[in-house]
Amino acid sequence: MDQTINRGLDGVYIDTSAISFIDGGKGQLVYRGYDITELADKASYEEVVYLLWNGHLPNAEQLAEFRAEIAPHYAVPGAVYDLYRNLPHGHSPMHAIRTAASMLGAYDDDPDGVDLPNVRRIGLKLLAEFQTITAAYERIRRGLQPVAPRPDLSLAGNFLYTLTGEVPSEAATRVMDVALVLHAEHGSNASTFVARATASTLTDVYSAITAAIGALKGPLHGGANTAVMQALEEIGDVAGVEPYVLGVLAKPGGRVMGFGHRVYKVLDPRAQVLKEVSRKLALESGDSKWFDMSLEMERVMDREMAKKGKEVKPNVDFFSASVYRMLGFPSDMYTPIFAVARISGWMAHLFEQYADNRLMRPRLAYSGTMGLEFVPVERR
Ligand code: SDX
Repeated sequence: MDQTINRGLDGVYIDTSAISFIDGGKGQLVYRGYDITELADKASYEEVVYLLWNGHLPNAEQLAEFRAEIAPHYAVPGAVYDLYRNLPHGHSPMHAIRTAASMLGAYDDDPDGVDLPNVRRIGLKLLAEFQTITAAYERIRRGLQPVAPRPDLSLAGNFLYTLTGEVPSEAATRVMDVALVLHAEHGSNASTFVARATASTLTDVYSAITAAIGALKGPLHGGANTAVMQALEEIGDVAGVEPYVLGVLAKPGGRVMGFGHRVYKVLDPRAQVLKEVSRKLALESGDSKWFDMSLEMERVMDREMAKKGKEVKPNVDFFSASVYRMLGFPSDMYTPIFAVARISGWMAHLFEQYADNRLMRPRLAYSGTMGLEFVPVERR
């Protein structure tokens, strides 16, 4: 019996997918044939969601129709707000958002149907509702009322509006749009794999998405963006970066958050785009503290990893931290914002999974004892 083990499923292909392609050696990410760097530069998040879900970019009419389809879905059951008002607020907001996503299923008229029209209906709903449940949590924990959505704004604009209660500037909306596009999809990453594996039992979309949120929360995955900012806050200034990095690397198995990737062996192309966004925001705001600290961390990591003959580069979560900071978001909201973007990718994968499903059921090579004789409890 072949028991080849690939720990962490490293290098294992579980299926085919037409949604995105990563060339880890070149540092290239492609959504449905389009290079991510070009999409980040030229496309809105709505266009990208349409692309991921339909396989082609929308024309103007299709885009307007898609926006109109999303618009009625921002409202969430009042019970979500009650939940938020009753939850303790000392933990990661991901606990609240994961619980709210699960609750949305209980309030859906047809949560369990996994036929494609129903999955698509839920996808449209979740795309809008994720914005509402994320923004509302942030407001409610600060003692503020949730803000009614503005479906006339773009997804990026509405998200900023429901978070702050103010119509965002064009510049801020564009930065948010770029962040949403870059975080939308990334192949069989841990949370997407979890979503697909969960859906492969033919359970419902809400269960698959709730499981995915749980996976995204971890610091080795989407939780890294919050961890990056927490580290920068703890370090405090550029001079503190080097001793901090050396301290982390001196510990056995020490990992500097926001660096390294299972697939990219060179710089993550999303990190490259976000680095330039961060640089621009720092210049425009006149406050370059977070960007300067990030550059210093990249410099020290490059040097230290080169000493070990390794290239461990910033990933998407590294420069998104300083970008989100300069947009004014609290650090523990960075991972929920990742979820607001990634719902589109998760749903694209659920469309594929339900359309041609096979139960995911891998094996573990048994490493325990055999042949023991049972001894009754009174004789043990
Ligand atoms: C995301 O996969 C995706 O697509 C995810 C994502 C997406 O879009 O969905 O791209 C988003 O989750 C980005 C990753 C965010 N996580 C972090 O930033 C956490 C810090 N990074 C690492 O823990 C790590 O790099 C991982 C988890 C991202 C990747 O883990 P791997 O592939 O299991 O690699 P590894 O930890 O075994 O590291 C291999 C070597 C190590 O050598 P050894 O010590 O094992 O001999 O690379 C070095 C390390 O030397 N290394 C690091 C490092 N990452 C790798 N050294 C220091 N700090 C790091 N962050």
